[in-house]
Amino acid sequence: RTQVLPATRQTALAMPTTQVAVQLTIVYGSQTGNARRIAEKLALQVEAAGLGARLVRADAYPTRELKNERHLVIVISTQGDGDPPDDARGFFDHITGKRAPQLPGLQYAVLALGDSSYPQFCAIGRRLDERLSELGAKRWFARGDADLDIDSVATPWLANALAAAREALKPQPPLATVTPLRPQATAASLYTRDNPYPAELLVNQRITGRGSDKDIRHIELSLEGSALHYEAGDALGIWPVNPPPLVDAVLAALALDGDQIVNHDGQTLPLREWLSGKRELTRLSRAFVAAHAAHAASDELNALLRPDRAADFARLLAQQQVIDLLRGYPGAWSAEQLVAALRPLVPRLYSIASSAKAVGEEAHLTVAHIEYDVDGSGADDSRRWGAASNFLARAAEGEKLPVFIESNERFRLPKDGTRDVILVGPGTGVAPFRGFVQERAVAGASGRNWLFFGNPHARSDFLYQLEWQEAIRRGELHRLDLAFSRDQPHKVYVQDRLRERGRDVFDWLQGGAHLYVCGDATRMARDVHAALVEIIATHGGKSAEEASDYLNDLQAQGRYARDVY
Ligand code: 2AM
Repeated sequence: RTQVLPATRQTALAMPTTQVAVQLTIVYGSQTGNARRIAEKLALQVEAAGLGARLVRADAYPTRELKNERHLVIVISTQGDGDPPDDARGFFDHITGKRAPQLPGLQYAVLALGDSSYPQFCAIGRRLDERLSELGAKRWFARGDADLDIDSVATPWLANALAAAREALKPQPPLATVTPLRPQATAASLYTRDNPYPAELLVNQRITGRGSDKDIRHIELSLEGSALHYEAGDALGIWPVNPPPLVDAVLAALALDGDQIVNHDGQTLPLREWLSGKRELTRLSRAFVAAHAAHAASDELNALLRPDRAADFARLLAQQQVIDLLRGYPGAWSAEQLVAALRPLVPRLYSIASSAKAVGEEAHLTVAHIEYDVDGSGADDSRRWGAASNFLARAAEGEKLPVFIESNERFRLPKDGTRDVILVGPGTGVAPFRGFVQERAVAGASGRNWLFFGNPHARSDFLYQLEWQEAIRRGELHRLDLAFSRDQPHKVYVQDRLRERGRDVFDWLQGGAHLYVCGDATRMARDVHAALVEIIATHGGKSAEEASDYLNDLQAQGRYARDVY
Protein backbone atom coordinates (compact mmCIF):
# COMPACT_ATOMS: atom_id res chain seq x y z
CA ARG A 1 0.00 0.00 0.00
CA THR A 2 2.10 2.93 1.20
CA GLN A 3 5.27 3.04 -0.75
CA VAL A 4 8.52 3.68 0.98
CA LEU A 5 9.22 7.36 1.02
CA PRO A 6 12.53 8.03 -0.61
CA ALA A 7 14.92 9.05 2.12
CA THR A 8 15.78 12.24 0.33
CA ARG A 9 13.91 13.95 -2.39
CA GLN A 10 14.61 17.08 -4.32
CA THR A 11 11.42 18.81 -5.11
CA ALA A 12 11.29 21.18 -8.03
CA LEU A 13 14.55 20.95 -9.96
CA ALA A 14 17.67 19.44 -8.54
CA MET A 15 19.81 22.34 -7.45
CA PRO A 16 23.50 22.54 -6.85
CA THR A 17 24.45 23.35 -3.27
CA THR A 18 25.52 26.90 -4.14
CA GLN A 19 21.87 27.69 -4.69
CA VAL A 20 20.73 26.24 -1.44
CA ALA A 21 19.60 29.68 -0.29
CA VAL A 22 16.59 29.63 -2.57
CA GLN A 23 15.02 26.66 -0.93
CA LEU A 24 13.91 25.57 2.48
CA THR A 25 15.54 22.44 3.82
CA ILE A 26 13.29 20.40 6.06
CA VAL A 27 14.98 17.67 8.09
CA TYR A 28 12.95 15.27 10.15
CA GLY A 29 13.72 12.58 12.69
CA SER A 30 10.80 10.35 13.45
CA GLN A 31 10.23 7.21 15.47
CA THR A 32 6.54 6.58 15.00
CA GLY A 33 5.89 8.78 11.98
CA ASN A 34 4.51 11.94 13.57
CA ALA A 35 7.54 14.12 12.82
CA ARG A 36 7.62 12.77 9.29
CA ARG A 37 3.96 13.58 8.76
CA ILE A 38 4.41 17.15 9.88
CA ALA A 39 7.57 17.64 7.86
CA GLU A 40 5.77 16.36 4.77
CA LYS A 41 2.90 18.69 5.41
CA LEU A 42 5.24 21.66 5.57
CA ALA A 43 7.03 20.60 2.39
CA LEU A 44 3.71 20.40 0.55
CA GLN A 45 2.62 23.81 1.84
CA VAL A 46 5.92 25.40 0.84
CA GLU A 47 5.66 23.91 -2.62
CA ALA A 48 2.06 24.99 -2.94
CA ALA A 49 3.26 28.52 -2.21
CA GLY A 50 5.54 28.24 -5.25
CA LEU A 51 8.70 27.96 -3.17
CA GLY A 52 11.38 25.32 -3.11
CA ALA A 53 11.48 22.70 -0.43
CA ARG A 54 13.88 19.87 0.18
CA LEU A 55 12.56 17.20 2.52
CA VAL A 56 15.21 14.93 4.01
CA ARG A 57 15.08 12.21 6.61
CA ALA A 58 17.79 12.97 9.16
CA ASP A 59 19.89 9.89 8.42
CA ALA A 60 19.99 10.84 4.74
CA TYR A 61 21.02 14.43 5.37
CA PRO A 62 24.62 15.05 4.29
CA THR A 63 25.83 16.93 7.36
CA ARG A 64 28.72 18.49 5.43
CA GLU A 65 26.10 20.62 3.67
CA LEU A 66 25.14 22.33 6.91
CA LYS A 67 27.72 25.05 6.27
CA ASN A 68 25.99 25.97 3.03
CA GLU A 69 22.44 25.89 4.31
CA ARG A 70 20.63 29.18 4.62
CA HIS A 71 17.17 28.14 5.79
CA LEU A 72 16.76 24.96 7.75
CA VAL A 73 13.85 23.66 9.77
CA ILE A 74 14.03 20.55 11.88
CA VAL A 75 11.07 18.49 13.03
CA ILE A 76 12.23 15.94 15.55
CA SER A 77 10.80 13.80 18.31
CA THR A 78 12.28 12.73 21.62
CA GLN A 79 12.03 9.13 22.74
CA GLY A 80 10.88 8.31 26.25
CA ASP A 81 14.20 8.48 27.98
CA GLY A 82 15.52 11.53 26.18
CA ASP A 83 16.97 9.80 23.13
CA PRO A 84 16.76 10.90 19.50
CA PRO A 85 14.71 8.76 17.12
CA ASP A 86 16.79 5.99 15.53
CA ASP A 87 16.88 7.72 12.16
CA ALA A 88 18.32 10.92 13.67
CA ARG A 89 21.07 9.58 15.89
CA GLY A 90 23.90 10.47 13.51
CA PHE A 91 22.46 13.89 12.69
CA PHE A 92 21.98 14.72 16.37
CA ASP A 93 25.45 13.49 17.31
CA HIS A 94 27.01 15.53 14.52
CA ILE A 95 25.37 18.80 15.49
CA THR A 96 25.83 18.38 19.23
CA GLY A 97 29.34 16.97 18.83
CA LYS A 98 32.66 18.76 19.18
CA ARG A 99 33.43 18.78 15.50
CA ALA A 100 30.32 20.65 14.39
CA PRO A 101 31.25 23.72 12.29
CA GLN A 102 30.30 27.31 13.09
CA LEU A 103 27.13 28.23 11.21
CA PRO A 104 26.95 32.01 11.05
CA GLY A 105 25.04 32.00 7.76
CA LEU A 106 22.21 29.77 8.87
CA GLN A 107 18.69 30.64 9.90
CA TYR A 108 16.91 27.73 11.54
CA ALA A 109 13.85 26.73 13.48
CA VAL A 110 12.93 23.61 15.39
CA LEU A 111 9.67 21.84 16.07
CA ALA A 112 10.21 19.45 18.94
CA LEU A 113 7.79 16.59 19.55
CA GLY A 114 7.50 14.73 22.81
CA ASP A 115 5.37 13.45 25.62
CA SER A 116 5.10 15.67 28.67
CA SER A 117 4.54 12.74 30.95
CA TYR A 118 8.30 12.14 30.62
CA PRO A 119 10.76 14.47 32.33
CA GLN A 120 12.89 14.70 29.20
CA PHE A 121 9.99 16.32 27.34
CA CYS A 122 11.19 17.51 23.90
CA ALA A 123 14.79 17.28 25.10
CA ILE A 124 16.22 16.44 21.67
CA GLY A 125 14.55 19.37 19.90
CA ARG A 126 15.55 21.71 22.71
CA ARG A 127 19.14 20.56 22.61
CA LEU A 128 19.36 21.06 18.84
CA ASP A 129 17.77 24.47 19.17
CA GLU A 130 20.32 25.55 21.80
CA ARG A 131 23.24 23.98 20.04
CA LEU A 132 22.56 25.58 16.66
CA SER A 133 22.42 28.93 18.38
CA GLU A 134 25.76 28.19 20.11
CA LEU A 135 27.19 27.47 16.68
CA GLY A 136 26.33 30.99 15.62
CA ALA A 137 23.20 30.16 13.62
CA LYS A 138 20.26 32.52 13.92
CA ARG A 139 16.99 31.33 15.36
CA TRP A 140 14.55 32.13 12.58
CA PHE A 141 11.39 31.83 14.65
CA ALA A 142 10.55 30.31 18.00
CA ARG A 143 10.78 26.60 18.70
CA GLY A 144 7.53 24.72 19.25
CA ASP A 145 7.39 22.01 21.93
CA ALA A 146 4.48 19.79 20.98
CA ASP A 147 2.94 17.32 23.39
CA LEU A 148 1.00 14.23 22.34
CA ASP A 149 -1.82 16.41 21.08
CA ILE A 150 0.63 17.55 18.45
CA ASP A 151 -1.51 19.83 16.34
CA SER A 152 -2.23 22.44 18.98
CA VAL A 153 1.45 23.42 18.81
CA ALA A 154 2.34 22.17 15.34
CA THR A 155 -0.37 24.09 13.50
CA PRO A 156 0.73 27.58 14.59
CA TRP A 157 4.38 26.56 14.21
CA LEU A 158 3.69 25.45 10.62
CA ALA A 159 2.00 28.75 9.94
CA ASN A 160 5.10 30.57 11.22
CA ALA A 161 7.32 28.40 9.09
CA LEU A 162 5.32 29.08 5.98
CA ALA A 163 5.23 32.82 6.63
CA ALA A 164 8.99 32.88 7.23
CA ALA A 165 9.62 30.88 4.07
CA ARG A 166 7.44 33.24 2.04
CA GLU A 167 9.42 36.17 3.29
CA ALA A 168 12.89 34.71 2.91
CA LEU A 169 12.76 32.58 -0.20
CA LYS A 170 12.53 33.63 -3.79
CA PRO A 171 9.71 32.04 -5.71
CA GLN A 172 10.84 29.21 -7.94
CA PRO A 173 11.01 30.01 -11.64
CA PRO A 174 7.75 28.88 -13.22
CA LEU A 175 9.66 26.36 -15.27
CA ALA A 176 10.21 24.22 -12.24
CA THR A 177 7.91 21.27 -12.24
CA VAL A 178 6.52 20.70 -8.85
CA THR A 179 5.89 17.03 -8.37
CA PRO A 180 3.82 15.68 -5.52
CA LEU A 181 6.12 14.81 -2.66
CA ARG A 182 4.46 11.64 -1.75
CA PRO A 183 3.19 8.90 -3.96
CA GLN A 184 -0.53 8.59 -3.46
CA ALA A 185 -1.47 5.57 -1.44
CA THR A 186 -3.46 3.16 -3.52
CA ALA A 187 -7.00 2.23 -2.58
CA ALA A 188 -6.87 4.55 0.38
CA SER A 189 -9.28 3.68 3.13
CA LEU A 190 -11.77 6.22 4.39
CA TYR A 191 -10.55 5.45 7.85
CA THR A 192 -7.75 7.40 9.46
CA ARG A 193 -6.51 8.49 12.85
CA ASP A 194 -9.15 11.18 12.96
CA ASN A 195 -11.85 9.01 11.47
CA PRO A 196 -11.19 5.61 13.01
CA TYR A 197 -12.81 2.38 11.90
CA PRO A 198 -15.10 0.62 14.38
CA ALA A 199 -13.43 -2.78 14.31
CA GLU A 200 -15.24 -5.74 15.75
CA LEU A 201 -13.40 -7.57 18.49
CA LEU A 202 -13.20 -11.24 17.49
CA VAL A 203 -10.94 -12.69 20.15
CA ASN A 204 -9.77 -11.46 23.55
CA GLN A 205 -7.83 -14.25 25.14
CA ARG A 206 -5.41 -14.32 28.01
CA ILE A 207 -2.26 -16.10 26.86
CA THR A 208 -0.24 -15.99 30.07
CA GLY A 209 -0.86 -18.98 32.30
CA ARG A 210 -2.04 -19.31 35.85
CA GLY A 211 0.63 -18.09 38.21
CA SER A 212 2.00 -15.48 35.81
CA ASP A 213 2.47 -11.95 37.14
CA LYS A 214 1.35 -10.67 33.79
CA ASP A 215 -2.02 -10.58 32.09
CA ILE A 216 -1.10 -10.67 28.42
CA ARG A 217 -3.89 -10.82 25.86
CA HIS A 218 -4.05 -12.08 22.35
CA ILE A 219 -6.52 -9.79 20.61
CA GLU A 220 -8.05 -10.27 17.18
CA LEU A 221 -9.94 -7.48 15.44
CA SER A 222 -11.89 -7.61 12.21
CA LEU A 223 -11.00 -5.07 9.52
CA GLU A 224 -13.54 -6.53 7.12
CA GLY A 225 -14.98 -3.96 4.76
CA SER A 226 -12.78 -1.15 6.09
CA ALA A 227 -10.35 -1.16 3.16
CA LEU A 228 -7.67 -0.78 5.81
CA HIS A 229 -4.44 -2.43 4.75
CA TYR A 230 -1.32 -3.01 6.73
CA GLU A 231 2.05 -4.57 6.25
CA ALA A 232 3.93 -6.72 8.70
CA GLY A 233 5.68 -4.26 11.01
CA ASP A 234 2.90 -1.66 11.02
CA ALA A 235 1.04 -0.58 14.13
CA LEU A 236 -2.63 -0.43 14.97
CA GLY A 237 -3.80 2.78 16.59
CA ILE A 238 -6.59 2.55 19.16
CA TRP A 239 -8.66 5.32 20.68
CA PRO A 240 -9.27 4.10 24.22
CA VAL A 241 -12.03 4.94 26.67
CA ASN A 242 -10.69 5.49 30.18
CA PRO A 243 -11.51 2.85 32.81
CA PRO A 244 -15.03 3.64 34.13
CA PRO A 245 -14.05 3.23 37.83
CA LEU A 246 -11.28 5.77 37.28
CA VAL A 247 -13.68 8.29 35.78
CA ASP A 248 -16.02 7.77 38.75
CA ALA A 249 -13.15 8.22 41.15
CA VAL A 250 -12.11 11.54 39.59
CA LEU A 251 -15.70 12.81 39.71
CA ALA A 252 -15.99 11.72 43.34
CA ALA A 253 -12.65 13.22 44.38
CA LEU A 254 -13.74 16.62 43.06
CA ALA A 255 -17.40 16.25 44.02
CA LEU A 256 -18.39 16.97 40.41
CA ASP A 257 -21.51 15.77 38.63
CA GLY A 258 -20.77 13.64 35.56
CA ASP A 259 -23.97 14.74 33.87
CA GLN A 260 -22.99 18.38 33.96
CA ILE A 261 -22.64 19.73 30.44
CA VAL A 262 -19.26 21.22 29.59
CA ASN A 263 -18.56 23.44 26.66
CA HIS A 264 -14.94 23.50 25.54
CA ASP A 265 -13.29 24.32 22.24
CA GLY A 266 -16.58 24.19 20.39
CA GLN A 267 -17.57 20.80 21.80
CA THR A 268 -20.49 20.28 24.17
CA LEU A 269 -20.52 17.05 26.15
CA PRO A 270 -21.38 15.82 29.63
CA LEU A 271 -18.35 15.92 31.92
CA ARG A 272 -18.33 12.12 32.18
CA GLU A 273 -17.86 11.84 28.42
CA TRP A 274 -15.06 14.38 28.45
CA LEU A 275 -13.27 12.36 31.10
CA SER A 276 -14.01 8.99 29.51
CA GLY A 277 -13.06 9.56 25.92
CA LYS A 278 -11.52 12.99 25.48
CA ARG A 279 -9.02 13.58 28.27
CA GLU A 280 -5.94 11.81 29.62
CA LEU A 281 -6.44 10.48 33.13
CA THR A 282 -3.73 7.83 33.28
CA ARG A 283 -0.74 10.03 32.42
CA LEU A 284 0.16 13.19 34.27
CA SER A 285 1.70 16.17 32.56
CA ARG A 286 3.87 18.88 34.02
CA ALA A 287 1.27 21.47 33.07
CA PHE A 288 -1.45 19.69 35.01
CA VAL A 289 0.73 19.23 38.07
CA ALA A 290 1.53 22.95 38.00
CA ALA A 291 -2.14 23.85 37.61
CA HIS A 292 -3.15 21.53 40.41
CA ALA A 293 -0.43 22.91 42.69
CA ALA A 294 -2.19 26.27 42.33
CA HIS A 295 -5.69 24.85 42.82
CA ALA A 296 -4.60 22.95 45.89
CA ALA A 297 -2.42 25.82 47.11
CA SER A 298 0.12 23.13 47.94
CA ASP A 299 3.63 24.24 48.91
CA GLU A 300 4.76 20.66 48.62
CA LEU A 301 3.61 20.36 44.99
CA ASN A 302 4.95 23.78 44.11
CA ALA A 303 8.33 22.81 45.52
CA LEU A 304 8.37 19.74 43.29
CA LEU A 305 8.27 21.99 40.25
CA ARG A 306 11.62 23.57 41.14
CA PRO A 307 14.60 22.63 38.94
CA ASP A 308 16.52 21.16 41.89
CA ARG A 309 13.69 18.69 42.47
CA ALA A 310 13.75 17.29 38.93
CA ALA A 311 14.37 13.72 40.09
CA ASP A 312 11.45 13.76 42.53
CA PHE A 313 9.29 15.33 39.88
CA ALA A 314 10.21 12.64 37.37
CA ARG A 315 9.20 10.03 39.94
CA LEU A 316 5.86 11.74 40.43
CA LEU A 317 5.18 11.74 36.66
CA ALA A 318 6.18 8.10 36.35
CA GLN A 319 4.29 6.79 39.35
CA GLN A 320 1.17 8.86 39.78
CA GLN A 321 -1.98 9.40 37.83
CA VAL A 322 -4.43 12.29 37.92
CA ILE A 323 -6.49 10.60 40.63
CA ASP A 324 -3.45 10.24 42.93
CA LEU A 325 -2.75 13.94 42.67
CA LEU A 326 -6.37 14.88 43.33
CA ARG A 327 -6.52 12.64 46.38
CA GLY A 328 -3.05 13.44 47.68
CA TYR A 329 -3.42 17.21 47.42
CA PRO A 330 -7.08 18.14 47.71
CA GLY A 331 -8.09 21.21 45.77
CA ALA A 332 -11.23 22.48 44.06
CA TRP A 333 -11.78 22.43 40.31
CA SER A 334 -14.82 23.41 38.31
CA ALA A 335 -15.81 21.06 35.51
CA GLU A 336 -14.82 23.65 32.87
CA GLN A 337 -11.44 24.29 34.44
CA LEU A 338 -10.74 20.58 34.65
CA VAL A 339 -11.57 19.89 31.02
CA ALA A 340 -9.41 22.82 29.95
CA ALA A 341 -6.43 21.75 32.07
CA LEU A 342 -6.28 18.04 31.33
CA ARG A 343 -4.48 16.91 28.20
CA PRO A 344 -6.54 15.71 25.24
CA LEU A 345 -6.66 11.93 25.05
CA VAL A 346 -4.47 10.52 22.30
CA PRO A 347 -4.62 7.12 20.62
CA ARG A 348 -2.18 4.36 21.59
CA LEU A 349 -0.22 2.35 19.05
CA TYR A 350 0.30 -1.41 19.20
CA SER A 351 2.60 -3.35 16.90
CA ILE A 352 0.43 -5.63 14.80
CA ALA A 353 1.08 -9.29 15.58
CA SER A 354 -0.16 -10.76 12.32
CA SER A 355 0.43 -10.73 8.58
CA ALA A 356 -2.55 -9.74 6.47
CA LYS A 357 -1.37 -12.29 3.94
CA ALA A 358 -1.89 -15.00 6.53
CA VAL A 359 -4.98 -13.82 8.42
CA GLY A 360 -6.89 -11.83 5.78
CA GLU A 361 -8.95 -8.88 6.91
CA GLU A 362 -7.95 -9.12 10.55
CA ALA A 363 -5.34 -7.52 12.76
CA HIS A 364 -3.97 -9.34 15.78
CA LEU A 365 -2.34 -7.72 18.80
CA THR A 366 -0.35 -8.90 21.79
CA VAL A 367 -1.24 -6.63 24.68
CA ALA A 368 0.02 -6.55 28.25
CA HIS A 369 -2.91 -5.50 30.40
CA ILE A 370 -1.54 -2.90 32.77
CA GLU A 371 -3.39 -3.23 36.04
CA TYR A 372 -1.88 -2.76 39.47
CA ASP A 373 -2.52 -1.87 43.05
CA VAL A 374 -0.82 1.29 44.31
CA ASP A 375 -0.48 0.24 47.92
CA GLY A 376 -1.07 -3.49 47.90
CA SER A 377 -4.22 -3.05 49.97
CA GLY A 378 -6.47 -4.68 47.40
CA ALA A 379 -9.02 -1.91 47.92
CA ASP A 380 -10.98 -0.75 44.87
CA ASP A 381 -9.56 2.71 45.37
CA SER A 382 -6.00 1.55 44.91
CA ARG A 383 -6.48 -0.08 41.52
CA ARG A 384 -4.86 1.64 38.57
CA TRP A 385 -4.82 0.80 34.88
CA GLY A 386 -3.21 1.62 31.59
CA ALA A 387 -5.86 3.34 29.47
CA ALA A 388 -5.70 1.39 26.23
CA SER A 389 -4.63 -1.99 27.57
CA ASN A 390 -7.51 -1.91 30.03
CA PHE A 391 -9.87 -0.77 27.29
CA LEU A 392 -8.85 -3.79 25.22
CA ALA A 393 -8.75 -6.23 28.12
CA ARG A 394 -12.25 -5.35 29.28
CA ALA A 395 -13.75 -5.35 25.78
CA ALA A 396 -16.12 -8.18 24.97
CA GLU A 397 -16.18 -10.14 21.75
CA GLY A 398 -18.53 -8.46 19.30
CA GLU A 399 -17.79 -4.97 20.62
CA LYS A 400 -16.59 -2.35 18.12
CA LEU A 401 -13.36 -0.52 18.89
CA PRO A 402 -12.14 2.62 17.07
CA VAL A 403 -8.91 1.79 15.24
CA PHE A 404 -6.65 2.95 12.42
CA ILE A 405 -3.40 1.85 10.82
CA GLU A 406 -0.13 3.64 11.49
CA SER A 407 2.48 2.59 9.01
CA ASN A 408 6.00 1.96 10.22
CA GLU A 409 8.13 2.11 7.11
CA ARG A 410 11.40 1.64 8.90
CA PHE A 411 10.34 -1.70 10.35
CA ARG A 412 9.97 -3.87 7.30
CA LEU A 413 11.04 -7.33 6.31
CA PRO A 414 13.78 -7.43 3.66
CA LYS A 415 12.33 -7.24 0.16
CA ASP A 416 14.72 -10.00 -0.71
CA GLY A 417 13.23 -13.17 0.76
CA THR A 418 16.52 -15.01 0.60
CA ARG A 419 17.93 -12.81 3.37
CA ASP A 420 18.10 -14.21 6.89
CA VAL A 421 16.43 -12.31 9.72
CA ILE A 422 17.27 -12.14 13.43
CA LEU A 423 14.31 -11.14 15.58
CA VAL A 424 14.81 -10.00 19.17
CA GLY A 425 11.48 -9.60 20.92
CA PRO A 426 11.13 -10.28 24.64
CA GLY A 427 7.74 -9.88 26.32
CA THR A 428 5.08 -8.30 24.11
CA GLY A 429 7.96 -7.21 21.88
CA VAL A 430 7.41 -10.54 20.17
CA ALA A 431 4.24 -9.18 18.53
CA PRO A 432 5.56 -7.96 15.16
CA PHE A 433 7.69 -11.09 14.82
CA ARG A 434 4.63 -13.30 14.88
CA GLY A 435 3.57 -11.22 11.88
CA PHE A 436 7.02 -11.45 10.29
CA VAL A 437 7.17 -15.24 10.57
CA GLN A 438 3.63 -15.59 9.21
CA GLU A 439 4.48 -13.28 6.32
CA ARG A 440 7.69 -15.07 5.39
CA ALA A 441 5.89 -18.41 5.47
CA VAL A 442 3.12 -17.23 3.13
CA ALA A 443 5.62 -15.54 0.82
CA GLY A 444 7.73 -18.68 0.72
CA ALA A 445 10.83 -16.71 1.70
CA SER A 446 13.83 -19.00 1.69
CA GLY A 447 15.90 -16.96 4.18
CA ARG A 448 16.15 -18.24 7.73
CA ASN A 449 14.23 -16.78 10.71
CA TRP A 450 15.91 -16.70 14.11
CA LEU A 451 13.85 -15.57 17.09
CA PHE A 452 15.11 -14.53 20.51
CA PHE A 453 12.29 -14.42 23.03
CA GLY A 454 12.31 -13.85 26.77
CA ASN A 455 9.85 -13.54 29.63
CA PRO A 456 9.81 -14.39 33.34
CA HIS A 457 8.75 -18.06 33.38
CA ALA A 458 8.59 -20.75 30.72
CA ARG A 459 5.55 -22.38 32.26
CA SER A 460 3.29 -19.35 32.31
CA ASP A 461 4.83 -16.73 30.00
CA PHE A 462 5.94 -18.54 26.86
CA LEU A 463 3.81 -16.47 24.48
CA TYR A 464 2.58 -18.33 21.40
CA GLN A 465 4.56 -21.42 22.42
CA LEU A 466 2.49 -23.83 20.33
CA GLU A 467 2.64 -21.61 17.29
CA TRP A 468 6.43 -21.37 17.46
CA GLN A 469 6.72 -25.12 17.85
CA GLU A 470 4.46 -25.64 14.84
CA ALA A 471 6.47 -23.10 12.85
CA ILE A 472 9.70 -24.93 13.67
CA ARG A 473 8.15 -28.22 12.64
CA ARG A 474 7.03 -26.75 9.33
CA GLY A 475 10.40 -25.18 8.65
CA GLU A 476 9.06 -21.64 8.99
CA LEU A 477 11.13 -20.80 12.07
CA HIS A 478 14.70 -21.95 11.98
CA ARG A 479 16.15 -21.06 15.34
CA LEU A 480 14.54 -20.14 18.63
CA ASP A 481 16.52 -19.00 21.65
CA LEU A 482 14.70 -18.45 24.92
CA ALA A 483 15.57 -16.40 27.98
CA PHE A 484 13.25 -17.16 30.87
CA SER A 485 14.56 -14.62 33.29
CA ARG A 486 13.26 -16.05 36.55
CA ASP A 487 13.51 -19.78 36.03
CA GLN A 488 16.95 -19.94 37.66
CA PRO A 489 18.63 -18.18 40.55
CA HIS A 490 20.21 -15.49 38.34
CA LYS A 491 18.47 -13.42 35.67
CA VAL A 492 18.87 -14.49 32.07
CA TYR A 493 17.89 -12.02 29.36
CA VAL A 494 17.74 -12.12 25.57
CA GLN A 495 21.05 -10.24 25.36
CA ASP A 496 22.70 -13.06 27.33
CA ARG A 497 21.45 -15.54 24.75
CA LEU A 498 22.66 -13.25 21.96
CA ARG A 499 26.11 -13.19 23.55
CA GLU A 500 26.17 -16.97 23.95
CA ARG A 501 25.37 -17.27 20.26
CA GLY A 502 27.60 -14.34 19.35
CA ARG A 503 29.65 -16.21 16.77
CA ASP A 504 26.55 -17.26 14.82
CA VAL A 505 24.89 -13.88 15.21
CA PHE A 506 27.93 -12.21 13.71
CA ASP A 507 28.14 -14.78 10.90
CA TRP A 508 24.50 -14.21 10.05
CA LEU A 509 25.08 -10.45 9.93
CA GLN A 510 28.14 -10.89 7.75
CA GLY A 511 25.98 -13.03 5.50
CA GLY A 512 23.55 -10.15 4.99
CA ALA A 513 21.00 -10.86 7.71
CA HIS A 514 18.58 -8.15 8.83
CA LEU A 515 18.27 -7.55 12.55
CA TYR A 516 15.14 -6.38 14.37
CA VAL A 517 14.54 -5.45 18.00
CA CYS A 518 11.12 -4.81 19.49
CA GLY A 519 9.99 -4.09 23.04
CA ASP A 520 11.09 -2.05 26.02
CA ALA A 521 13.19 0.93 24.92
CA THR A 522 14.85 2.15 28.04
CA ARG A 523 16.35 -1.03 29.44
CA MET A 524 16.06 -3.94 27.04
CA ALA A 525 16.80 -2.22 23.72
CA ARG A 526 19.74 -0.38 25.26
CA ASP A 527 21.24 -3.51 26.75
CA VAL A 528 20.65 -5.44 23.54
CA HIS A 529 22.40 -2.70 21.59
CA ALA A 530 25.38 -2.86 23.95
CA ALA A 531 25.48 -6.66 23.62
CA LEU A 532 25.46 -6.35 19.82
CA VAL A 533 28.38 -3.93 19.93
CA GLU A 534 30.26 -6.42 22.08
CA ILE A 535 29.43 -9.35 19.81
CA ILE A 536 30.57 -7.50 16.71
CA ALA A 537 33.76 -6.36 18.43
CA THR A 538 34.59 -9.84 19.75
CA HIS A 539 33.74 -11.89 16.71
CA GLY A 540 34.64 -9.31 14.08
CA GLY A 541 37.96 -8.37 15.70
CA LYS A 542 36.93 -4.72 15.96
CA SER A 543 37.29 -1.94 18.48
CA ALA A 544 34.14 -0.86 20.32
CA GLU A 545 34.01 2.21 18.09
CA GLU A 546 34.31 0.18 14.89
CA ALA A 547 31.64 -2.20 16.14
CA SER A 548 29.41 0.75 16.84
CA ASP A 549 30.00 2.08 13.32
CA TYR A 550 29.20 -1.37 11.95
CA LEU A 551 25.80 -1.21 13.65
CA ASN A 552 25.22 2.35 12.46
CA ASP A 553 25.96 1.18 8.93
CA LEU A 554 23.48 -1.65 9.30
CA GLN A 555 20.93 0.84 10.53
CA ALA A 556 21.56 3.19 7.61
CA GLN A 557 21.11 0.27 5.20
CA GLY A 558 17.79 -0.60 6.84
CA ARG A 559 19.28 -3.80 8.21
CA TYR A 560 19.03 -2.92 11.90
CA ALA A 561 15.58 -1.66 12.80
CA ARG A 562 13.98 -1.11 16.17
CA ASP A 563 10.38 -0.77 17.22
CA VAL A 564 10.76 0.17 20.85
CA TYR A 565 8.59 1.96 23.33
P1 2AM B 1 12.49 -9.66 34.55
O1 2AM B 1 11.15 -9.02 34.64
O2 2AM B 1 12.53 -11.02 35.18
O3 2AM B 1 13.61 -8.81 35.05
C1 2AM B 1 9.94 -9.36 29.31
O4 2AM B 1 9.49 -8.34 30.13
C2 2AM B 1 11.24 -9.94 29.81
O5 2AM B 1 12.25 -8.93 29.71
C3 2AM B 1 11.21 -10.38 31.25
O6 2AM B 1 11.73 -11.67 31.32
C4 2AM B 1 12.09 -9.38 31.94
O7 2AM B 1 12.79 -9.93 33.03
C5 2AM B 1 13.05 -9.07 30.85
N1 2AM B 1 13.90 -7.89 31.10
C6 2AM B 1 13.87 -7.01 32.12
N2 2AM B 1 14.84 -6.10 32.00
C7 2AM B 1 15.53 -6.42 30.88
C8 2AM B 1 16.67 -5.88 30.24
N3 2AM B 1 17.29 -4.80 30.70
N4 2AM B 1 17.08 -6.46 29.11
C9 2AM B 1 16.45 -7.55 28.62
N5 2AM B 1 15.39 -8.12 29.19
C10 2AM B 1 14.92 -7.56 30.31
